Amino acid sequence: MRLLTPELLDLLPADDPRAMRSRRDLARINAVMMQHRIMARALAGLPCPRLLADLGGGDGRFLLGVARRLKQWRGVRAMILDRQAIVGCDTRDAFQALGWSCEVMQGDIFETLPRLSPDIVTANLFLHHLEDGELARLLALVAARAGGFATCEPRRSTFAVLGARLVFMLGANDVSRHDALASVRAGFAGQELSSLWPKNFGWKIEELGVFPFTHRFVARHAP
Ligand SMILES: C[S@@+](CC[C@H](N)C(=O)[O-])C[C@H]1O[C@@H](n2cnc3c(N)ncnc32)[C@H](O)[C@@H]1O
Repeated sequence: MRLLTPELLDLLPADDPRAMRSRRDLARINAVMMQHRIMARALAGLPCPRLLADLGGGDGRFLLGVARRLKQWRGVRAMILDRQAIVGCDTRDAFQALGWSCEVMQGDIFETLPRLSPDIVTANLFLHHLEDGELARLLALVAARAGGFATCEPRRSTFAVLGARLVFMLGANDVSRHDALASVRAGFAGQELSSLWPKNFGWKIEELGVFPFTHRFVARHAP
């Protein structure tokens, strides 16, 4: 069973030194989990979008790492949706250097996403923040507006619990150590996301665990 507990990073102001340090830890944790590569592989089979919305995209550095791997995609307008507006100028410049543009839409995801019609929606380490009812509502919103969706979440497994207990070895602070374990306990296994995806025809769905710590779900609408 998923177990949701509030994550400390969500409770801290963006300029709190512990939160800023935890965002840096998150970048290292994403690298160790190989999240950029796993997401880029998921997206590589989809057509290049005009507008891509990244749910809970944080400081945008995760999506930037994915964009660097998707060399075949150019002219993408990336929209980072997050409660906090924390995308730095250096990150926006780096997107521009890749031929992408990057904008931020600040607010709760249930207020911001309905205002967009993205071609593709992504989410990294975000969906596990939501309990199943909210998640079903969010997935229905995504399915109604986008042609493709890819998410990389924590895998709820004994091995991932072990990994989360070891993040201190990366020099992670108390916020990151707490949130790593909370994330795995709220993470996904089996076909849990598929069971919450709207039961419409026309979607090709793939949900699986990816070594070492990731649970990946991809939905693509038939042309
Ligand atoms: C674990 S962080 C992941 C950030 C980013 N995807 C990454 O991989 O670096 C989760 C993010 O979701 C955001 N968030 C949490 N709940 C949210 C909500 N209801 N609406 C919008 N953003 C939310 C937080 O502010 C945070 O930036």
